[in-house]
Amino acid sequence: MSRRILVTAALPYANGPIHIGHLVEYVQTDVWVRFQKLRGHECRYFCADDTHGTAIMISAKKAGVTEEEFIAKISEEHQRDFASFDVEFDHYGSTNSDENRELCHRIWKSLRDAGLVVEKDVEQLFDPVEGIFLADRFVKGTCPKCGAEEQYGDSCDKCGATYSASDLVDPTSNFSGATPELRTHEHLFVRIEDLHEWLDEWVTGGEHLQPEVANYLKGHFLNDELRDWDVSRAAPYFGFEIPDSPGNYWFVWFDAPIGYAASTWAWCKANGDELDNWWAADSDAEIHHFIGKDIQYFHCLFWPAMLKTAGWKTPTKVHIHGFLNVNGKKMSKRDGTFVRAETYAKHLDPSYLRYFFASKLGPKVTDIDIDLEEFVTKVNTDLVGKVVNLASRSAKFVETLSDTYPDDGGLFENAGAKGDVIADLYEACDYNGAMREVLALADAANKYVEDNAPWTLRKDESKRDELRDICTVALNLFRQIAIYLAPVLPRLAEQTGRLLNDPIGPGDWAKSKQPLLVTPVAKFEHMLTRVDPKQVQAMIDESKEESQADAPTSAPTTESSAWNDSSEPLEAEPLADECTIDDFVKVDLRVARVVEANHVEGADKLLQLTLSLGGDVRKNVFAGIKAAYDPADLVGRLVVCVANLKPRQMKFGLSEGMVCASGPGKSEVFLLSADEGAKPGQRVH
Ligand code: 2FM
Ligand code: ZN
Repeated sequence: MSRRILVTAALPYANGPIHIGHLVEYVQTDVWVRFQKLRGHECRYFCADDTHGTAIMISAKKAGVTEEEFIAKISEEHQRDFASFDVEFDHYGSTNSDENRELCHRIWKSLRDAGLVVEKDVEQLFDPVEGIFLADRFVKGTCPKCGAEEQYGDSCDKCGATYSASDLVDPTSNFSGATPELRTHEHLFVRIEDLHEWLDEWVTGGEHLQPEVANYLKGHFLNDELRDWDVSRAAPYFGFEIPDSPGNYWFVWFDAPIGYAASTWAWCKANGDELDNWWAADSDAEIHHFIGKDIQYFHCLFWPAMLKTAGWKTPTKVHIHGFLNVNGKKMSKRDGTFVRAETYAKHLDPSYLRYFFASKLGPKVTDIDIDLEEFVTKVNTDLVGKVVNLASRSAKFVETLSDTYPDDGGLFENAGAKGDVIADLYEACDYNGAMREVLALADAANKYVEDNAPWTLRKDESKRDELRDICTVALNLFRQIAIYLAPVLPRLAEQTGRLLNDPIGPGDWAKSKQPLLVTPVAKFEHMLTRVDPKQVQAMIDESKEESQADAPTSAPTTESSAWNDSSEPLEAEPLADECTIDDFVKVDLRVARVVEANHVEGADKLLQLTLSLGGDVRKNVFAGIKAAYDPADLVGRLVVCVANLKPRQMKFGLSEGMVCASGPGKSEVFLLSADEGAKPGQRVH
């Protein structure tokens, strides 16, 4: 019977590029979706960018663009990267959409009506430099339970403890590095403890979660009273304002999962369907979420609780995977193993990675590892050596397949019968098991080809029919494998469809039981080539270069051997005459933040800067730094300015100060900055 299945992968933050760590999940999910489609089910894959929150607000500000412009650009890049890895969504939306706003309002009303929203004063950490309250993820410090350093403000990676950011020992703001201050603000909370009993049943009932996930949630959360969930953030915040609480916004994690339904709705609108057909409590659809182990708390407790309260459908299953390591270690920018999707695709065929991930992914929440040597060997031995070779060694010798299926000693029938086993493995997300079954079929097929050596038969005119029969068997065995691998390798399935003049598309899983006969065989086109380890190295090298380019340029070196400072600048401009401290204090140097930077029409050398000295105090300054700085790079920066310089009327306007910089001029101008923690308006002594 055909099922209706709605599938989602976690919504990536619109705050940076997709990397190979992300791809584990999007590929895992895409394989599952393609598998369901191939089985003939109506399966839809919905995703979106997760666009709200403080981090994105700050990034947009740094980039000198609006938040909307910022997230639009990232969305384009994300969709380009996913498409290049054959990750095919039915709809890719944004949490900053009308549909999402409307659904947030609806769910919020249900929570209010159910009496689950409570108001409480919260002491929250505030970044005095950036002027914002800090989300838990943007504070780091020492875990108050186990003493592990460098832990986030909501939970500890080492001991799993959850706490509030203000409990961290020695906290620092991720944005400015400043020590945050505690400030009080009224927040809105959802009292999910009221759903404790229902959640307990939902989590431990055995259908919705992998057993280890259910045990974890039971042991870490459900054995105690569930804490109220803080769902509001004070302005300034990029997100949706809470309708009945002006000046407060929904916390990004409130509207993010609702984005799953919003993306569904946008698709429904474009395809003549109804949201209720998928999300209403009585809908016959299944809902499957794929996520990483770091966000199970949100998806397995809060999200079902919200859905239940709203009277919507609750998830059929949440599938949870582990993290990706490379060469046995956490992905690292320094080692060049933090590889962006775009960089990978420049050097290597995405099919390799899809296959490699599939061969590693099982139904458990374990981390997976790409050992890069193993990656090369696996692709070359399994994919090229065993699978593609089957086609390349037989397709060239025939123009059409035989009229009746020849005796192959039961190989085709046996492989056809394996279809159910392989399907069960895919269904259970045991791709590793599925790949092993398929590879065993490829081994048997290769043995058949070796034993019958079509390359020898082709030399003998009298053995034409025999040659055609051998190739008919080999190509049918290859096609079965291509069908079984189609969820993982859609390009190979397409190539196979072209080669044998019979496409492999939705609903075609059962074709693995039907041999293809008579059909013309097209000219063989290359399917997948061997990986050269040099390509892998080039990808790693490029990733290293990218991370170096991303690293803050002001990072000081601590190796004294690198301090090979020349005496030239001092010789070129010897020290000035001595001055007294009284002379010095006449010049009022202040820390200032560049809040605006623009080109000046008609000026070759100048940029116009608006400097903030804190509060509402602004100064307009024209600085001769055009050849050295792009205005967009300056916005947000802390600089040092001469704040009491007599204003000067220039051709382009009034200049009310001066920014301090060194260097001979043109492109060699270096602005002075204040270290992190300094505040606009502070005097420089
Ligand atoms: O952890 C993350 O990357 C989040 N952006 C995932 C959100 S998933 C869903 F809830 F939207
Ligand atoms: Zn800890």
